[in-house]
Amino acid sequence: MSAPCIAVIEGEGAAPEAMRPTVELLSNLAPDINWSFPPVGKTGTEKYGSVFPPEAREMIDEADATFFGATSGPSGVALAYLRWGRQTFANVRPARWLPGCATPLAHPEGTDFVIVRENLEDLYVGCEGDLEQLEALEMMSLTARKPVAKMGPGKFALKVITREESERIVRFSFDLACRRKQAGKRGRVTCSSKYNMLPQTDGLFRQVAEEIAAEYPDIEFETYIVDDFARRMVAEPQALDVVVLPNLYGDILSDLAAGLIGGLGLAPSGCYGEDFAYFESVHGAAPDIEGRNVINPTATILSGVMMLEYLGRFEEAAHVDQAVTQVYRRGRNLTPDQGGQASTAEFCKAVSRFL
Ligand code: IPM
Ligand code: MN
Repeated sequence: MSAPCIAVIEGEGAAPEAMRPTVELLSNLAPDINWSFPPVGKTGTEKYGSVFPPEAREMIDEADATFFGATSGPSGVALAYLRWGRQTFANVRPARWLPGCATPLAHPEGTDFVIVRENLEDLYVGCEGDLEQLEALEMMSLTARKPVAKMGPGKFALKVITREESERIVRFSFDLACRRKQAGKRGRVTCSSKYNMLPQTDGLFRQVAEEIAAEYPDIEFETYIVDDFARRMVAEPQALDVVVLPNLYGDILSDLAAGLIGGLGLAPSGCYGEDFAYFESVHGAAPDIEGRNVINPTATILSGVMMLEYLGRFEEAAHVDQAVTQVYRRGRNLTPDQGGQASTAEFCKAVSRFL
């Protein structure tokens, strides 16, 4: 690839405080990378009178990847474009414990798994309405023992699981497990959903996973009902390698996974489409610590590592990853969420010293 271009959206709240030094760190490491700054949110409004003007979309489309800071407001439109507009179907959220990270686990050693969250359907299709709209369907409620439409004034939400999207996300997960196995990891895919209570939707997700597992005899495969899985994740996270989940369970359990390794300040992510990807921390905009220069930039830096890997810059990615690992191992420049007293800038400086 010729010199890549990355579109940077700094986000809101405390997110820019993590994004700016990370971009600086990456550009020092890889000076050939070009950076563009699509006018999104406040800058979009100031320059073009819109939180997400066409100019911003074009810059995202022209770039090789987008680096996205967490949003709590105006940049949300950009997030909708990056996920649903660009159909980034696989939301990859690694949970790897680094020695020195403030985990609540007594035995965190060897925790290194990845949640692959389906990113385009499930309850996220956003189809909600009044129960009475369901009248014509004549569907019975299993629990209320009467027609759903007659359960009283109330609302419903639609959960959609398609075969095609399930196949795509499961295949993605098995391919990821193959690559991880080559790199010395376990080579196991764990699929989880609530297939006992939702035999049609979550049952389909599980069935598709079972079918595709047969195509990958070298990868171990297991399925658990999601409540059981949640306990297993806490009790024995080391047993996990690649975990594939429908959208909502993936949303919830990826925060739990972050909690296991030491908090949201540590959790990176990448959302991948067929020919497009963007990268963001799992955490939100953290408005409570805005302006204090104490946000933990690790999630952002490690999202940058995933982005470098996506761009094929494996050596540089490994360098940054190593540097972050060293800073935690030494434990002298950690941010308050990790029990330290360092500022965001001091943490980043410590990382740069190990590059
Ligand atoms: C996440 C967030 C988003 C989600 C919100 C901001 C829509 O919680 O990225 O996990 O629910 O997917
Ligand atoms: Mn979430």
